[in-house]
This record gives sequence, C-alpha cells and structure tokens, in this order.
Amino acid sequence: MSKIVVIGSCGVDFTAYAPRLPKPGETIHGTKFTTSFGGKGANQCIAAAKLGGNTYMICSLGDDQWGEKYKENLKNHGVDITHAKITPNVTTGCAQISVAENGENQIVVVPGANNYLSKEDVANSAELIKNADVLIGQLETPFETMLEAFKLSKGIKLFNAAPAQAGIDEILPHCTILCVNEPEASLLTNFDVDITNAVDALKKLLDAGCETVIITLGSKGAVYMSKHDQQPIHVLCEEVVPVDTTGAGDAFVGALATYLVTYKGQPLHQIIGAACHVATLSVTKEGTQKSYPEKIDAFNREYQYIKL
Ligand code: RIB
Repeated sequence: MSKIVVIGSCGVDFTAYAPRLPKPGETIHGTKFTTSFGGKGANQCIAAAKLGGNTYMICSLGDDQWGEKYKENLKNHGVDITHAKITPNVTTGCAQISVAENGENQIVVVPGANNYLSKEDVANSAELIKNADVLIGQLETPFETMLEAFKLSKGIKLFNAAPAQAGIDEILPHCTILCVNEPEASLLTNFDVDITNAVDALKKLLDAGCETVIITLGSKGAVYMSKHDQQPIHVLCEEVVPVDTTGAGDAFVGALATYLVTYKGQPLHQIIGAACHVATLSVTKEGTQKSYPEKIDAFNREYQYIKL
C-alpha cells in the first residue's frame, strides 16, 4: 500500500469560541473553550488517515502530560508512530486559537518540542523518507530539517509552506507540489496575491523551481499550474456556511496526498476538486482533526474547473 509520510508538527490546540475576534488590547466574552489535538503536520497526517491513507508521522513531542497522549491519538487513527519521538525537558507544541461566529480564526503557535525535530531525525528515518510515495512537509518545524528530508525523498514531495515564512527558496526546486494559501503566496512572491493575479503568482513560483503550484483560495476553491503544460486552472468549490475554518488547509493537504496515491494518473483538477471538497466539509464542524471526514471518497464526484 502506498506510503504517505508526514514530517512536521504536532500541537495541542487551546481554542476559545467567541461571537467575534478580539481587537488588539480588547477583552471579550467567549462562549466555549476546547482542548484538542492539532498542529499542521499531524492534522494533515490524520486527514489522510481518516480517508484511508497508509500514514507515517515523523515528529517531536514533549515529555510533558501531552507527549504520550499525542502518540496515542496518532496511533488510534491508524498512523505509524515508529518515528514519533519524545524529546526530554521540553513541552509539547501548542496553539492558542480564537474562533469567531463567522468561522474566522486567529492562531498563536508556540513550537516547543517541534523546534527539536532535527536533521538527525531525518537520518534516523532515512529509509522511510526515501521510499515514501508522498512526503508531506510544512513550516512549523525547523526549515533545515524539512530541506534535508525533501532532498532525500524520491516520491511525490508535497510542501505546504505554512505558516508563511520568508527565505525558503532553497526548498522550492525539491517540491513536486507546492501548496500555499493567498497570504503565503504573497510572502513568497513579494506581491499581494488574490484571485485576480493568482496566475502571475503561479508563474513566479513555478519559475522558482517547483513542478506544480497550488494556491488555495478558501471558499473560492484553488488555482494551480504545472511546469509541463503551463496551463493555469481554477477549480471551483461549493459554498457552505463556515462554522470553524481552523485546519481546513491541512484537511486539503492530507486529502490531496491520499487522492494523489489512490487515483494516480487521474486529472489533477479532479484530485484538487476532491481535496477542496474534504476541506469544505471540515469547515462545517468545529475543530481540526475531529472535523475531518472519515472514509468518504470525494474523488467520485464532479468538480467544475475553468482553464484560465
Ligand atoms: O492549521 C491549523 C493548525 O495550526 C492548528 O491545529 C494549530 O495547531 C496550528 O498549528
């Protein structure tokens, strides 16, 4: 069975729900508080696992009350945790999240043990990384570690450059697929990217060395372009009333990886449409991992797309 290997972050999400997001310096009353498992890397891994992907997680957790619990959470979702390490004397990564009634969020991430995922960990899991059918990485763990892993892997290398970070050009030639949202694309291209100029951003990022670039556009779907045919395509997605958009990008990435290996050789617009559908379903529920759909086959639906 194809291997989906995620190298990246795990974190505990402390989420406050409120009618709206607070302004700087303001205190407002919330309506609910939850504690749940999150972190972009693990969210992507669990999104893939819930869709039936054969998943492996390479990560660093703290030796606090959360580290072992987090490993258990991954295991319960069927994720292979052979390379999930507990780092002594550090706390597990965490995130303070506020979610407004319109589904918008604000997130502050404290990396903790995620900062200790090292090149040595890449060396320790070299065989797994080399033989991954899809390797997924993000930017909540050290960039040098990610770069090392991406240089090593021989399969599809799917890089989600989130959260936005400058100075990551060196990894782009090693990316089979670069997946970013509008703010992340803006930082990497040095102009404000939105749907009106997304094709310029796609071209610029392809010139930086990626084989395919996908820019996700929230409720407007995603645009993408590949080096081999230079044809920009906009994949549309259905509109829903969002409850909580936290982790929707991670649902997209995990679903994309799963459908890429399950439907190898099928049109990318259809695979991206399916990933958009999974992300859309996730925003209709609260939280991240628990909002991801289980055992659905989003590929076998029709998705509209426009050649730009
Ligand atoms: O992408 C959503 C995730 O970002 C949350 O789960 C939070 O942990 C932060 O890492």
